[in-house]
Order: sequence, then C-alpha cells, then structure tokens
Amino acid sequence: MNENIPIALEARNITKRFPGVVANDQVDFTLKKGEIHGLLGENGAGKSTLMNVIYGLYTADEGEVLINGEKVEINNPHDAIDHGIGMVHQHFMLVPVFSVTENIILGSEVTRGTTLDLNKARQDISRLSEGYGLKVDPRSIIEEIPVGVQQRVEILKALYRDANILVLDEPTAVLTPQEADDLFRIMRELTEKGVSIVFITHKLREVMDIADRITVMRRGAVVGTTTPQETDKQGLAEMMVGREVILEVEKGPASPGEPVLNVTNLSVNDDRGIRVVYNVSFEVRKGEILGIAGVQGNGQTQIAEALTGLRNAASGEFSINGKKMPSGSPRRLIESGLSHIPEDRHRHGLVMSYAVADNMVLCTYYESPFARGLRRNHQAVLENAKKLIHDFDVRTPGPLVNTGKLSGGNQQKVIVARELSRPVQLLIANQPTRGLDVGSIEYIHNRIIEERDKGAAVLLISAELDEIMSLADRIAVIYQGEIVSIHQTDQITKAELGLLMAGSKL
Ligand SMILES: Nc1ncnc2c1ncn2[C@@H]1O[C@H](COP(=O)(O)OP(=O)(O)O)[C@@H](O)[C@H]1O
Ligand SMILES: [Mg+2]
Repeated sequence: MNENIPIALEARNITKRFPGVVANDQVDFTLKKGEIHGLLGENGAGKSTLMNVIYGLYTADEGEVLINGEKVEINNPHDAIDHGIGMVHQHFMLVPVFSVTENIILGSEVTRGTTLDLNKARQDISRLSEGYGLKVDPRSIIEEIPVGVQQRVEILKALYRDANILVLDEPTAVLTPQEADDLFRIMRELTEKGVSIVFITHKLREVMDIADRITVMRRGAVVGTTTPQETDKQGLAEMMVGREVILEVEKGPASPGEPVLNVTNLSVNDDRGIRVVYNVSFEVRKGEILGIAGVQGNGQTQIAEALTGLRNAASGEFSINGKKMPSGSPRRLIESGLSHIPEDRHRHGLVMSYAVADNMVLCTYYESPFARGLRRNHQAVLENAKKLIHDFDVRTPGPLVNTGKLSGGNQQKVIVARELSRPVQLLIANQPTRGLDVGSIEYIHNRIIEERDKGAAVLLISAELDEIMSLADRIAVIYQGEIVSIHQTDQITKAELGLLMAGSKL
C-alpha cells in the first residue's frame, strides 16, 4: 500500500483496565482509507476491547481517537455511527422475529409523515445490497435465514447508516469455508468503494489471504504491524504467542499395546429416535490415537455421546479394559478411567457460573482429597486449581473467577486440565481445538500426544482433517453413520480421505 494514503481512523495510546487485567495497554492503531487491516491475536489479547473503545461501548482510561486526523469524542455507539464507524459484533444483535428491513432500519428513522416508510427502506436496502454484492432478501425473517446471511444484514445495517469504517469482530468464526470466501469477496468490494475495514481474527491463514496490513496484539499490547508480503504464518504465530510455535505437531511413532476400548456392533439413535450410527465396530489400543474423520453430522457426535455415557446405545456394546460398560452412566465410565473432552463445552464440559476451581473438580468433587465424607475441603480444591492453572497455562484472573468470564480457549484449557489431571486410560476428545487460537491448539495437541505416550488409548473425533492427519496413528472414516474403512495414517493421503468422507470408494 502507498505510504501517502490518508488515515481514516487512529487510536492513540489507548489504555483500558478491567478488574485484574489491563485489556489494552497504551495501544496505537491506524487504519488507512480503503484498506483491510487485520487485527490478529490470541483469545483475550485485547482485540475486541480496542474496537469496543473505538465504537463507544467502553470508555478508555487513557488515550484518544482521531477520525480523518481530528480528535473526536466517542462516548457511545451513537457517536461512533455519527462519525461513520460501523461494527459487526461476534454475537449478532439482530431481532430474530423481525424482517431484514425492520432490523436494518431499527433505530434510524425512515418516516414519511408519522408512519415508518417500509417501502422506501426496502428500496434503499435493495440498492445497497446490489451495490456492494451483499445478497439478501429485505423481506426475509432473521431467524429463517442462515448465519452467513444474518451477518450480511449486520453489515448492511452499518452501511445504511453511512458507515465508511467497518469493524468486523471475528466474522468468520460462525461461517462455513464457503461463506467465509463470500465474505472476503464482499470485503474486497467494499474497500474498492472506499470503505476501510478492521478485520479481527485469530486465524493466520485468513489475514495472510485478505489483509493489506496486519497488526498483532498480545496480552493487551500491540506487538507490531506488518504485511502478508513481509511475513508468513510462522512469523505471525510467533508474534501472537511470543515464542516459537510449532505449527506442525511433532510426534514419534506409536507403540500400541492391548486394546483398551472395544466397540462391537454399536448402533445409536439421535434425539428424534432416528438411527444415525449403524453397527459400528472398532478398537482403540493402549498407546495409540485412533482418529475418526468425517464431515460433521455423519454420526460421530452420537458415537462420542454413547461412549461417554451421555446417550444410550440402541444396540451393540462396548467395553473398557475388557469390562462391559453399561449404557448411559458417565460416572461408571469415569471410574473406569475415561477422560472426556466434549464437543460442546457449554453443555457438557463446564458450568459457566461456577468458579474455575470448581470446574476443575467437576467429576471428582466427591472424592478425596476434595471431600471427606460430605465435607468439602476448600483448601484442597483451591490448591488443585492453582496447580492446574499453572501447569496448563490457563489465563484467568484467579481460581475463583466464574468460568464464563474466560475466553473460549481458556475455558477449553480448564476442561483439558481437569480431564488430564487424573490417570487416563481412555481419552475421548471430540473437536478438542475447535475455535481455538494457535497457541492453545499447539498446547492441547502436545498434551494429547503426551497422554498417548504415557499409555492412554485416545479416540480423537475432529472435523478438521489436518488435525486428524497430524495426530492420529490410525484413521477411521465415518460416512452416513458407518465406518467405511480404517487406515494407517502413513498409508493414506488427505485427498483419498476427502473422497472417502464424501462417500466415494477409492
Ligand atoms: N467487560 C469486561 N469485563 C471484564 N473483563 C473484560 C471485559 N471485556 C474484556 N475483558 C478482559 O479483557 C481481556 C481482553 O479481552 P478481549 O478484548 O475480549 O480479547 P480478544 O477480543 O482479543 O479475545 C481479557 O482478559 C478479557 O477477559
Ligand atoms: Mg474478541
């Protein structure tokens, strides 16, 4: 980008403190006119805080914001909008039962006489959506359209208010790869028409693909600003994490022993009573990682639920270390040496309103040393938490903070810490790194391999083929509820796996 391009937005020396944390520490940031500026950082780095300050949702403790070179006072989103700033949040702020048009005009008056002129609004919206390649039907009801389209509505809402600076906070987190490509195309189109975009993400590939410049934040501070031409994924990862990061997992060969998990002719139904897993049989041996590769929704969720006691099997059976396991008994499974990293950490992994320390003993709270009889030993619970927070590098203001307050990556580390802090015979890890940043992914991958090398049997379920290929020693492919085939990882290619996952024969 040309050095002489004017600066649309500048944040100078922004400091924002929350109790126990400096979320922004003297942050400087500039956005040039018409650029896509990637704001990259791990969860909790301070990206959203910076943009919330600029958008007037938070008041900075120090620092100032300049628009087109002039200092401005932004005390609320209204002020921000008046200065041409629009923001699309991580969680959308649309009214589900209203139409696209109603949502877009909500809060900005389009009146003719005293009645809302919906027709005119609809025309304006159609014009905008055509002009920027943002396809939506103004008449659709929000709750009936896909997430990717809802996001376009949020963008249109900002454009409708004449935003020429657009902040997108982790917009791809909720999108499929195809939807993300569409969004990138729209972003390009917007910048060609003079809109300047701040694109927040923690995904290296995305900023390398789409950003003109990249600013990296770590622990509340700006580490530096660079461009995709000047750096690469490795370089960015190091800036984000503050140390060298191994993007490829390093692992030695497996030395599998006796089978730990034996699954025989397992069939499972879903919530509606429809059969989604058919006669599945496999084993996972001591000291090996078996990966289940498959497109999301092919029965892998229900297999994991059946094997972790969250769902009854329809037929078939499974055993751990030769002992037949009853259906639907998580506690019995835990006592047999099962550790479980669940797919849905909000529903099955954590109680968000509990302190971190309590979540760290969620499955063992009734055992020594955390309880003696009915009496709970607070000191032991606290000591356990302090040790795990340190060992597993959980970023939290303290052990007594509500788990819901932590970033997603750190919530996941709480689960991993709890599940791997007792002796593991069988680890079932379902989408263990979904939505996490590189530092946390690397950490969790290494921990899983460590457990394997200590002799655990690991069943890894992941929709990320790269994750399966780099961790698993053997790979089972699931398609429409059946295991199609099982392969040694070093004897199959990614392309072949992709074909099998799509239902083709090799
Ligand atoms: N409203 C808030 N109250 C207390 N702490 C907050 C609040 N918002 C953010 N934080 C803390 O500030 C830090 C930065 O968070 P955030 O800006 O959301 O990071 P990012 O968007 O990079 O993931 C984190 O430690 C987070 O817990
Ligand atoms: Mg954020």
